[in-house]
Amino acid sequence: CELGNIYACANIGIIGGSGFDDPSLFQNPIELHVNTPFGKPSDTLLQGQIKGVPCVLLARHGRKHQYQPSDVNYRANIWALKEAGCTHVLATTATGSLVEEYKPGDLVILDDFIDRTWGRKCTFYDRTEGGPRGVCHLPMRPAFCERSRRALFDAAVSRGYRCHEKGTAVVIQGPRFSSRAESLMHRQWGGHLVNMTTVPEVVLAKEAGLSYAAVALITDYDCWREDEKSVSVSEVLAMFAQNVKKAADVILDAVQILGADTDLEYLNAHRELVTSSIMLKD
Ligand code: ADE
Repeated sequence: CELGNIYACANIGIIGGSGFDDPSLFQNPIELHVNTPFGKPSDTLLQGQIKGVPCVLLARHGRKHQYQPSDVNYRANIWALKEAGCTHVLATTATGSLVEEYKPGDLVILDDFIDRTWGRKCTFYDRTEGGPRGVCHLPMRPAFCERSRRALFDAAVSRGYRCHEKGTAVVIQGPRFSSRAESLMHRQWGGHLVNMTTVPEVVLAKEAGLSYAAVALITDYDCWREDEKSVSVSEVLAMFAQNVKKAADVILDAVQILGADTDLEYLNAHRELVTSSIMLKD
């Protein structure tokens, strides 16, 4: 779909995977086994069309959920989607809530993050053989693509789902959940949500010049509330299972909104931002 420097149509990567198990969803599905200069992605990619819009599906943690958040090869995942021709990435993420009004079961279209991860590979520009050259200082305001965020929010509203238009995710390293003192601190910092995967995924997608947005599904209140015990895996899994269809519906509808959009100039703007952020190319 790329005509020289101009995109003729959207090709949408979907990261998360849960809720997209219905085999009839994808037309003309092909499994792609991909390798990248940064290693292998979490699993094979499933390429096809959703109601005519080209899409590529990838399970962030692997289809057997074999990679914990700090072990996901985020660079390979994003690179593989870019190589598969994606112009966009729409992601789902399970999150804890740090504020009363953001309730378990609600959806949130993320608009910012606070990075509390460490030791993750968070740039393509590290002189890896086969990777891009130079040093890339990318602005992170806005962190997420406004056009894709709008598509997700409009889709959620049309479905009648409880959905918050904005939210800052504090991204922790995991695999443990936060202590109570940390949870209280994250609230004071202005975080609305807490999860373990948005960084470096959003950063790498931006470095790759892609339009990236994420719909967060709230599974718990973390552990900051007076009257509540700490978040638990069973609680997160149960709430996720109960509500994942909502997040998948929103992505499916957003795919149609973005696929029907004929003004794709914003995709060139994403790529130009990357080009203008690179120093010392040789
Ligand atoms: N994912 C879902 N709930 C979470 C929480 N409370 N903290 C971090 N990641 C989460």
